Amino acid sequence: MDRQLYAVQGVEKILSPALLFFRELIEKNLARMLEIAGSPERLCPHVKTHKCPEIVKLAWSRGIRQHKCATLAEAVMLAEAGASNVLIAYPIVGPNCLRLAEIVARFPQTKFAVIADHPLAVEALSSAMSQARLSVDVLVDLDVGQHRTGVPPGEAAVALYEKISHLPGLRPGGLHAYDGHNQQADLDERRRAVDSIVRELTKLLEQLHQRRLPVPRIVVGGTPTFTSWAAQHLPGLQCSPGTCVLHDANYARRFPDLGFVPAALVLTRVVSRPSADRLTLDLGYKAVCADPPAGQRCVFPDLPEARQVLHNEEHLVLETPLARRFQPGDTLMAIPAHVCPTCAMYDFAWVVEQGRISSRWPITARGRLT
Ligand SMILES: Cc1ncc(COP(=O)(O)O)c(C=O)c1O
Repeated sequence: MDRQLYAVQGVEKILSPALLFFRELIEKNLARMLEIAGSPERLCPHVKTHKCPEIVKLAWSRGIRQHKCATLAEAVMLAEAGASNVLIAYPIVGPNCLRLAEIVARFPQTKFAVIADHPLAVEALSSAMSQARLSVDVLVDLDVGQHRTGVPPGEAAVALYEKISHLPGLRPGGLHAYDGHNQQADLDERRRAVDSIVRELTKLLEQLHQRRLPVPRIVVGGTPTFTSWAAQHLPGLQCSPGTCVLHDANYARRFPDLGFVPAALVLTRVVSRPSADRLTLDLGYKAVCADPPAGQRCVFPDLPEARQVLHNEEHLVLETPLARRFQPGDTLMAIPAHVCPTCAMYDFAWVVEQGRISSRWPITARGRLT
């Protein structure tokens, strides 16, 4: 862990806990994403990690025009930030269909796409879009092994794709395959897992081509399999990692092969020293995500050996023989184990440039749709 990366001057007046974005490291991660993908057209990064229009603009300045999101609030944030292509990679159901139609109508400069995995869902979407005299691209969501959403890449997927191509207000927009279950520590194993999905996708593409159904793009994967997908040559392939823009302690520890660096940290302060070997920080699970396992919710570059022994809503208690070196009010930097839900806890992030706080960026889409 390179502690020097996270040295910041001028935090004395920053209220804690606070989210900090290290701009140069974000830029470095974006550059690495482009290096892996080969070109911006092969990227459709997921914004759920940062929910922040300023990072969308940084991506834009590097030629990245397509973005993925999970919520309608993120879709609105993207359209307001000027994104030209927005893929909502989450099933749209119930009254959300009408809200989607309102959003599509409100942002005519942005081309919207959604995913779907069920005939009833595409009928409801078609009805909402055609009533509003609008249209939207629909990508068939494939279940490639995670068993969370999607149809298996076989006859059911072909039938759904064909149905989309006949329904008013919908355009067949391609395929979506997220393989969040592929978290193998060994890179070769991850590569083999992706190769096997590619074989299924290739068969499915042949079936769709035989029916003369256009497949403009295939949006795939997250951060762990990013390099494995980017090495593939499927037509219209776009990689959709999200976490790696900010990266976090979990992925950095488990996938060092990827070459990304954590770029979002939480500034915390010692609020109490209840015993000789204990420090209590203002870093409860309302300030840093509480993903399992307990005891590993973050990494402290300045206290890597500290044990995290108690995590409450507003307190994190550390046990360390170095506790006596700290006083109430002293600051520590924490790299979140899981950065995406951590960002969603903050209204804004302080931006660090050249080791100093320079500005603050809003986490605009942290809420649901207003
Ligand atoms: C559908 C979908 N695509 C892409 C991603 C990005 O994956 P990662 O966080 O590993 O970058 C996620 C993450 O949850 C996801 O759910």
